[in-house]
Amino acid sequence: MPPISLRVNGRPHSVDADANTPLLWVLRETLDLTGTKFGCGIGACGACMVHVDGAPVTSCVTPLGAVAGKAVTTIEGLDPRGAHAVQRAWTEHDVPQCGYCQAGQLMSAAALLARRPSPTDADIDDAMSRNLCRCGTYDRIRAAVHRAAE
Ligand code: FES
Repeated sequence: MPPISLRVNGRPHSVDADANTPLLWVLRETLDLTGTKFGCGIGACGACMVHVDGAPVTSCVTPLGAVAGKAVTTIEGLDPRGAHAVQRAWTEHDVPQCGYCQAGQLMSAAALLARRPSPTDADIDDAMSRNLCRCGTYDRIRAAVHRAAE
């Protein structure tokens, strides 16, 4: 089986793994990009959210073969200095509590703002509905997304 080629955070990679391997495993175990978290493993919590060609995707249920030739962005690649508008707003609003879900939250928020620069509360709630936070930081997340949109 030939290696599978993809770009991750702008860098080309050739991954020698089964096409059914979850993308999350490849990111964390093969490429050592551990900012993307494992939560539920069934596509239900959003902790593993990354961008594939700009769209938010739960990497735990995305097979490696599905991203062949595509561009994957993880939290490490969202901004070279870690200063994307959502990251700055998250800091300003002190959003995280335990922090475990926050990489996924940030990736969903960044994808939302890329397609809808001035989102309404309803837009935010809809876009963030795939990301669960057991600490209940939802109000701060909403405020931070609005801040990032300014
Ligand atoms: Fe992927 Fe929960 S770990 S959605």
